[in-house]
Amino acid sequence: MKITIGSDHGAVDLKEEIKKFLQESKIDVQDVGTFGNESVDYPDIAEKVCSDILSGKSERGIVLCGTGIGISIAANKIKGIRCALCNDVYSAKMSREHNNANVLAMGGRVLGFGPAVEIVKAWIETEFSGDERHNRRIGKITALES
Ligand code: RB5
Repeated sequence: MKITIGSDHGAVDLKEEIKKFLQESKIDVQDVGTFGNESVDYPDIAEKVCSDILSGKSERGIVLCGTGIGISIAANKIKGIRCALCNDVYSAKMSREHNNANVLAMGGRVLGFGPAVEIVKAWIETEFSGDERHNRRIGKITALES
């Protein structure tokens, strides 16, 4: 699996920790930044991560900011993106099984490294159920984009 990851300055350390976990799990990770503590705008990072998914360069994305809120809102403005802000493992699993989320958002000032890595693990290991009712609802979400 190929994953593109990005964060604003509020979650750079968490991004490094998640990257380490993904690389150890033999996942191909693309990091679009940011790489330091200087303030950046999270919509710019959301755009970079999501464009990798829309172009097919990556199958999934992980976006991080201080709370995960701003960057998830930004990602969800982009057509074709279903971004789930998850602070727990159950939500992460459901976001894949029911919503076929292609982007995971988390907050670097909300979650500790351990819980965040558990969330990522659950999210990458869970497949979309493919159930008719979930497909129908996702279709309705897609219809809202136009
Ligand atoms: C940046 O200070 C902060 O606003 C951002 O990381 C995020 O929490 C926004 O939702």
